[in-house]
Amino acid sequence: MKKHKITLSFLEFKSVDELNDDDRTLLLRAKEAAKNAYAPYSKFRVGAAVCLANGTIIIGSNQENAVYPVGLCAERVALFSAQAQYPDQPIVALAVTAIGSDGKISQPVPPCGSCRQAMIEAESRHNQPLRVIMQGEEGPIIVSEKMDNLMPLIFAEDFLKKYTELA
Ligand code: THU
Repeated sequence: MKKHKITLSFLEFKSVDELNDDDRTLLLRAKEAAKNAYAPYSKFRVGAAVCLANGTIIIGSNQENAVYPVGLCAERVALFSAQAQYPDQPIVALAVTAIGSDGKISQPVPPCGSCRQAMIEAESRHNQPLRVIMQGEEGPIIVSEKMDNLMPLIFAEDFLKKYTELA
């Protein structure tokens, strides 16, 4: 038996003032997007914004449904919308935040596992590291510089290519 250890890294910033201009702008767009969420069931309004290599920003917010699993997270709404409109543009960064209904969210909002998997696909599709910026309504900001930090031991395109006729 062999035990492996994986090292992850992320950056922590005390406030938006410490962020670079691009990250701050993207996070502000995500905060605006959160106000447009359709979240009558969870009352948890999530906003996301993705930045393309050409500088275009596309926003998304969670869209819920009375049939709960039909709804979609803010990150995937933004990501899929960006890729539908600009299929050839690499996605360089994604910011995510949320507005709660019972007190201000003071810790970074982490993307769910399904959204992480979708982000990994965007990264491998364009061979472009994806920067993820996370904050609540206030408090510290966490920045992950590539998806390896948010999801190790991933299942991605290269695995399929290795063992199927896709190669
Ligand atoms: N949600 C997101 O939009 N993104 C995430 O990464 C986590 C969860 C949404 C889904 C649902 O509408 C609500 O938040 C509560 O789970």
